Amino acid sequence: MALSSAFWRLNLLSKPSVSLRALKPFKPKPRPMSSLPISSKLNPSNFSASKNPTSLDPKTRTPYPQHDLIVLGIETSCDDTAAAVVKSNGEILSQVISSQADLLAQYGGVAPKMAEEAHLQVIDRVVQEALNKANLTERDLSAVAVTIVGVRKARKIAGTFSLPIIGVHHMEAHALVARLTEQELQFPFMALLISGGHNVLILARDLGHYVQLGTTIDDAIGEAYDKIAKWLGLDLRRSGGPAIEELAREGDAKSIKFSTPMKQHKDCNFSYAGLKTQVRLAIESKNINATIPVSSATSEDRRSRADIAASFQRVAVLHLEERCERAIEWALKIEPSVKHMVVSGGVASNQYVRAQLDQVVQKNNLQLVCPPPSLCTDNGVMVAWTGIENFCMGRFDPPPPADEPEDIEFDLRPRWPLGEEYTEGRSEARSMRTARIHPSLTSLVQASLQQKL
Ligand code: KG4
Ligand code: ZN
Repeated sequence: MALSSAFWRLNLLSKPSVSLRALKPFKPKPRPMSSLPISSKLNPSNFSASKNPTSLDPKTRTPYPQHDLIVLGIETSCDDTAAAVVKSNGEILSQVISSQADLLAQYGGVAPKMAEEAHLQVIDRVVQEALNKANLTERDLSAVAVTIVGVRKARKIAGTFSLPIIGVHHMEAHALVARLTEQELQFPFMALLISGGHNVLILARDLGHYVQLGTTIDDAIGEAYDKIAKWLGLDLRRSGGPAIEELAREGDAKSIKFSTPMKQHKDCNFSYAGLKTQVRLAIESKNINATIPVSSATSEDRRSRADIAASFQRVAVLHLEERCERAIEWALKIEPSVKHMVVSGGVASNQYVRAQLDQVVQKNNLQLVCPPPSLCTDNGVMVAWTGIENFCMGRFDPPPPADEPEDIEFDLRPRWPLGEEYTEGRSEARSMRTARIHPSLTSLVQASLQQKL
């Protein structure tokens, strides 16, 4: 299907009948300035994307006064349902997260189908709470930004209140939130995005222009943390990562010699499936019984679980360090002016991960930028902020029709790639699971910019 300019931002495509309706020219209703500060300026001609985005400073090139925007972000891609209201000056007006910790504990990780149903149940409540905490109503919003599962709710609000809508790529949001917390962070920068479902290294050349330097050929690091935490009988209520991080502090990280993944592959891709297997074998050889929670284990048993946690963490992070080292070399070849490496996504809230990567980055004369832990794990703020960044460049969709049917179908894209692969980074080891099915966000954005030239 041809990609319409109206839909190129979304990480989903509605079925053709819907996209045709959404393509009608967007003429927002006039509103009093006090209730919707931006309404009088909402004219599509004000929002044409820059013709030459790379040559402009993102802080000044926007066709729009940034301090006026108020965006609701809804984040529902993975294991939590979150919403936030953020101003374009970076002020966070509210932030609400409803955790699916019970589900996680029950299933020992993210269970996509269960997670999706749980999102739908709590999303109305979470959005309302975010608006209440910000002392605002939908009428005060400038736009709604959303990732995959929350799209129905977002379109409902946007349709009812005639608000523009910005479809947000989950991983782009993890990277860009660093520009909210670190005002100095300008393009181009590098980003290592590490979460439960993704493990990517990118070079962010500009907004919507990402080069993928490496990705995982099987599992993401967060998934390995979660699985191993389950096998070690840890408390999964806060997800496996924090549980392993805590237990690892008691262990000897050199006690078990796990081998570092992909040593023979001189690229920036990742693999965690083999390490997971090595750890599982070590757990079996020590006769660790996961049905006995670590809190009830004997001190000897607890010690051996801690040694495994620490040894796993050391090698899992060493793998990140090695790939980052090479990625920095590659990134500097493409963009010698790179100064920062962002590390974000749930796993980036880990203190050991931060400390180790800080060393690598400093050694290469770059600066590490890690959002605070609450903004590394999934949150609504990152979605609202990414919405703001894109909105300022005119990259949004017009309000959906107010009477859009609730049972409308969308073609969701959970593994939609963020950027085009760097040629040197192409891996023959890439499995079919991660093979490209959709064009990347970058290719859609760049195609749209070309059309406007
Ligand atoms: O980005 P995120 O919140 O959700 C996804 O997009 O997947 O990342 C969740 C992942 C989970 O696998 C969780 O175990 C991991 O981040 N995580 C951690 C820590 N906190 C969360 N991993 C290691 N150490 C942590 N402190
Ligand atoms: Zn995430």
